Amino acid sequence: MAIKRFGVSIDEEVLATLDRYVRENNFANRSQVIRSLVEQYIVDNKWQKNEEVAGAIVILYDHHKSDILVKLNEIQHDYHELILSSQHFHLDHDTCLEIIAVKGRARLLQEVADLILSRKGIIHGKLVMSKAE
Ligand code: NI
Repeated sequence: MAIKRFGVSIDEEVLATLDRYVRENNFANRSQVIRSLVEQYIVDNKWQKNEEVAGAIVILYDHHKSDILVKLNEIQHDYHELILSSQHFHLDHDTCLEIIAVKGRARLLQEVADLILSRKGIIHGKLVMSKAE
């Protein structure tokens, strides 16, 4: 991809905020931050417009709690067309960490994530929204 340069006029105060953001998040420079913010805007937009996107559902749960293993398995089979893979880590005697990679229409990914994240027994969970292309 060709790199283009452009000049930006910006308030001193906003520029100071941008520079603070660069420092606090360990970005290499301002260009890197701007690229990252634009990419985030693109991702947000794709999810809002129900486009084809990708992401990951990250969940932490106690595998002894109720019927969580059965339910998680059922949900993943019901939505198998959206699920690329899932990885399960046994963190300790009780706790499991699972990362479910998903790809498909944004609304459907949100739907399967909501179903999983609201299950009884989930300690913590999050849908990480990214893009498919
Ligand atoms: Ni486990």
